[in-house]
Amino acid sequence: KNIKGKIEFKNVDFTYSGSLNPVLKNISFVCNPGEMLAIVGSTGSGKTSLINLIPRFYDVTSGELKIDEINVNMMNLKELRDIIAIVPQKTMLFSGNILENIKWGNENASVEEVQDAAKIAQAHEFIMSFPEKYTTQLGQGGVNLSGGQKQRISLARALLKKPKILILDDSTSAVDMTTEGKIRRGLKLYLKNTTCIFIAQRITTIREANRIIVLDNGMISAIGTHEELMKNSDIYKDIYYS
Ligand code: CTP
Ligand code: MG
Repeated sequence: KNIKGKIEFKNVDFTYSGSLNPVLKNISFVCNPGEMLAIVGSTGSGKTSLINLIPRFYDVTSGELKIDEINVNMMNLKELRDIIAIVPQKTMLFSGNILENIKWGNENASVEEVQDAAKIAQAHEFIMSFPEKYTTQLGQGGVNLSGGQKQRISLARALLKKPKILILDDSTSAVDMTTEGKIRRGLKLYLKNTTCIFIAQRITTIREANRIIVLDNGMISAIGTHEELMKNSDIYKDIYYS
């Protein structure tokens, strides 16, 4: 199907069930097809809650969430999730080898496709340095990967899906800055026709986005380019100078 990957939030409120206070309040923004949009904000401001609404891990409490003008509630859940890949804040790898972990959810992928995804994620090199390479066992009885290595495996898995919408939730927080820069440059080429929403803390990463949303206590406090926010958003300036 011809999905463009436009995402629109319209007056979205969200309250976790069993809770009284909304964690997201009156969220409205459009992420255009192919755009790279960053979300910043302090811990607990609602960043993860916001992105979790897109694949309908949770449903909006009120307001509308649309992809390509269609309300996500009207879409087939499998079709919706087929076009989205999320690299979650907490990496989820299982006991098994590296290849199985990267292919998880995309079992039909070829070796070339796996390696291409791993190269963009800056995982190929360290994988090849293990004696068993892609068949290196993880978890019980296997190697213990560093936090940054786990994140890169997790990113490779998401890229292998070739999603229309890629969502990164603080996915390179444990990766050193040099490696993160390489990932960013690779992603730029890879993401040509992909909409990307990413949550990040490092200003070098954030400022690469086309636009940035500043989330504060569940509300959008500002939205704009790096240059615009440096003029208009005190919260953004605080992040920049911290
Ligand atoms: N929350 C909740 N139930 C959940 C998940 C989160 O009540 N299952 C609450 C948290 O306690 C927090 C708010 O929702 O008050 C926003 O959480 P979250 O979206 O996870 O915030 P982030 O901005 O993602 O925080 P961080 O930077 O620490 O990841
Ligand atoms: Mg979070």
